[in-house]
Amino acid sequence: DSPTQRVGAEPLEAFGTIDRSVPMLSLDNAFSHDELHEFDKRVRKGLGEALTADNIDYVVEPKYDGSAVELIYEKGLLTSGSTRGDGMRGENVTQNLKTVKTIPLRLKDDTDMPARIEARGEVVLRKDAFEKMNLRRIDEGEQPFANPRNAAAGSLRQLDSKVTAKRPLSIFIYGRGAIEGREFETHSETMRALRDWGLHVNLEEIRQVRGIEEVIEYCNEVEQRREDFAYEIDGVVVKVDRLDLQRILAETSRSPRWAIAYKFPAQEKVTVVNDIITDIGRTGAITPVAVLRPVRVGGVEVRRATLHNEDEVARKDVRVGDHVVIRRAGDVIPEVVRVLPEKRTGSEKVFRMPTNCPVCGSATERVEGEAATYCTGSSCRAQLVEHIIHFASKTGLDIDGLGQMRVEQFVNEGLIADAGDLYFLAKEQIIPLERMAEKSVDNLLVAIDKSRDTTLARFLYALGIRHVGEHVASVIADNFGTLDKIRETPQEELEEVMEVGPVVAQSLHTFFQQPKNLELIEKLLKGGINIQVEERAAEAPFEGKTFVLTGALEHFKRNDAKKLIQRLGGRVSSSVSKNTDYVVAGADPGSKHEKAQKLGVSILTEEEFRKLIEAYS
Ligand code: IVH
Repeated sequence: DSPTQRVGAEPLEAFGTIDRSVPMLSLDNAFSHDELHEFDKRVRKGLGEALTADNIDYVVEPKYDGSAVELIYEKGLLTSGSTRGDGMRGENVTQNLKTVKTIPLRLKDDTDMPARIEARGEVVLRKDAFEKMNLRRIDEGEQPFANPRNAAAGSLRQLDSKVTAKRPLSIFIYGRGAIEGREFETHSETMRALRDWGLHVNLEEIRQVRGIEEVIEYCNEVEQRREDFAYEIDGVVVKVDRLDLQRILAETSRSPRWAIAYKFPAQEKVTVVNDIITDIGRTGAITPVAVLRPVRVGGVEVRRATLHNEDEVARKDVRVGDHVVIRRAGDVIPEVVRVLPEKRTGSEKVFRMPTNCPVCGSATERVEGEAATYCTGSSCRAQLVEHIIHFASKTGLDIDGLGQMRVEQFVNEGLIADAGDLYFLAKEQIIPLERMAEKSVDNLLVAIDKSRDTTLARFLYALGIRHVGEHVASVIADNFGTLDKIRETPQEELEEVMEVGPVVAQSLHTFFQQPKNLELIEKLLKGGINIQVEERAAEAPFEGKTFVLTGALEHFKRNDAKKLIQRLGGRVSSSVSKNTDYVVAGADPGSKHEKAQKLGVSILTEEEFRKLIEAYS
């Protein structure tokens, strides 16, 4: 627990994981006072006989908008800390959490100190520190964070804890996992004990109230003070105080029935549109953006708002010089809600979509049936830059340190002409560029090298195929397993895969038809990209078989059934056709069942399906 422990450790290669015995759940949301009343009704109903008073005792506290973590103290010493992860397993970020000043490395001595304390809380970043940090990032050519939540999460996931140590993070403890050897009667009593042990619990803001009306009063009060909080808060968390009642109410797989998050409505402010400019995305889509007279919304300065597309500008009739209401729903980038026409002077200017791309000068085009206007330039620098940024993004190949400024620099200096070129970059080429320290070049090259080992889902997403987002990419990867399979599968077959559909299938098909795209893939593979083959069952008895799930399954969640089929080499499709091999029919199966009967497709009952799966597992 020596203070030098806070910044001592060597950078990590990757985070390990930490398994939990008590999952970290999420919360259901309430967006209105009515929904809070409904929550209270559900709680009372759920308690039935156990309900002894007219009103429930609740604990209310601010909902911090940061990143959830768990801290584990053994015999009073901080032994590990992890991110929420999927709830059951989190990432081991102990070294980074040790740099957070409000996290004690050793708890205060207490004769009754439990052998093990699992404390849970939210790691947050002050709003002013967030703004300063973003200004510095922009200065240094890095992407600014969208909000303090992302900044806090990003800081916790630094491989080098010295970087985390420089970020002014703090923590608010709001809950617990297991606490061995000490019983409590209420949540508030637990929080007081955690505070007495030295943990950072915001008791000044936590309040015990009686009945839902007092909950609502607190929500109103905190909402009024929202901007005065040094940290971003996005609502109020309401919890049943008595732990015995919490146990009766229990939880669903996702969230406890004894708690709810009341979310504040998005914040609105009036400001002036100084200009309307355009942004070019990776697909060439041209987005109009309102440049605003800077205004503080929810404690964060806002300078721009997206106007989405030409129709949206026309629908809202936003003109340069207009007074507008803007809304921020969490991110720094807000939206224009409406214009205040009564404030017009007559000097406002109507926006026209440019007929030529402001970056490459090529003609712009609006495809029929689509809202977007595109730049038609095949080698438009703006598109290229966006494409590479997308490729290197966290959800893409995750190349740390390759943000907008660097990509622009590399493209402008002619170092790269596509994402594939990244894998052939040499140190000597980068060093002479402006603002390039040797250390950061080394780090970048290491990050590029690390990105070579990737998964099919990431790779597909990174390619930036239209309509293939993170989720669709992983569905496709799960169903086909290899890039070649995807490429070789006819469009009609792609279409039949559950959650893919005709639009995505068409887009995939078109993508793999373009020689330019195939060349890029080839270059990437030559550059050392190694797509790990996802683990599948040794036997693939369902290889080449297509399943359709219909009706309510009793013993499987849809998604689990899907995963099981895929693990055994099969594919899951959303509609029945002559290519379907099996329809698994649960209760009330409906039209897919009928169609299967008509086409003579084998129909399995849930029981038969279970046996089939069990036979191979
Ligand atoms: S209690 C069973 N209290 O909100 C979950 N959560 O939307 C108990 N959060 O994952 C959570 N402030 O990360 C609780 N005062 C607070 C909170 C809080 C922020 C976060 C937490 C949770 C998320 C759910």
